[in-house]
Amino acid sequence: MDVTTALKTRISTRAFKPDPLPESLVRDILDVARWSPSGGNVQPWTVIATAGAAQRAIIDLAKTALMSNPAGEEGDRPIYPEALWEPHRSYRYKVGEDLYAKLSIPREDKGARLAWLAKNYEFFGAPAALFFIIDRRMGHGQWAHMGMFMQSIALVAHERGVASCMQECWARLRDTLHAHFALTAQEMVYCGMALGYADPDAPVNTLRTDRAAVDAFAVFRGF
Ligand SMILES: Cc1cc2nc3c(=O)[nH]c(=O)nc-3n(C[C@H](O)[C@H](O)[C@H](O)COP(=O)(O)O)c2cc1C
Repeated sequence: MDVTTALKTRISTRAFKPDPLPESLVRDILDVARWSPSGGNVQPWTVIATAGAAQRAIIDLAKTALMSNPAGEEGDRPIYPEALWEPHRSYRYKVGEDLYAKLSIPREDKGARLAWLAKNYEFFGAPAALFFIIDRRMGHGQWAHMGMFMQSIALVAHERGVASCMQECWARLRDTLHAHFALTAQEMVYCGMALGYADPDAPVNTLRTDRAAVDAFAVFRGF
């Protein structure tokens, strides 16, 4: 698969088949993705890969934690800036609307929306997951480099027929996961990623998101 095809056909998969992913395949994906660039080659990433009982324990943990605290524990690194502005606000709104349309969930059905959101915390049925851990002392630059690494993982996985969904929703359980993974005081969970084989029959996996055209975000000078 060439890079252009990989970029244009990778999607966030939100329904997986239960078929397990062998550790060797997850290792192979990470082994390629580690060639991602990072400023100063500092490679600011640490990964916790889970499957089987280790993953089920996290699902149980999430269920319990969110039952007592549905709003979660976002802390000092919120997932989105407060009061997102245009055009980003509209981009975000549209993907939400398109997603719920695929799921046949009407806008006003809050219960159904919440039930759907809860599926995030079951990894949408994925048999494996990655958690991306970053050191709190790292700055914006290193967070960006972590993003490059995550994108590489998603693309390499896609090349191998493995679907993914990045899941920053896990930021809502940062404290719970911090304790569960016995991280050091400096370490924090940035994001999760569900990994597995896409369920081809799930309507949600037919969602194809938009992107703004080049002229909406780029200017060209001196060409
Ligand atoms: C860092 C990051 C975190 C994300 N977190 C979530 C998440 O928690 N739950 C979810 O369903 N999608 C999540 N997504 C998926 C985005 O909604 C998705 O990438 C975007 O709508 C574009 O769609 P596409 O990935 O299908 O191209 C996340 C994406 C990124 C890059």
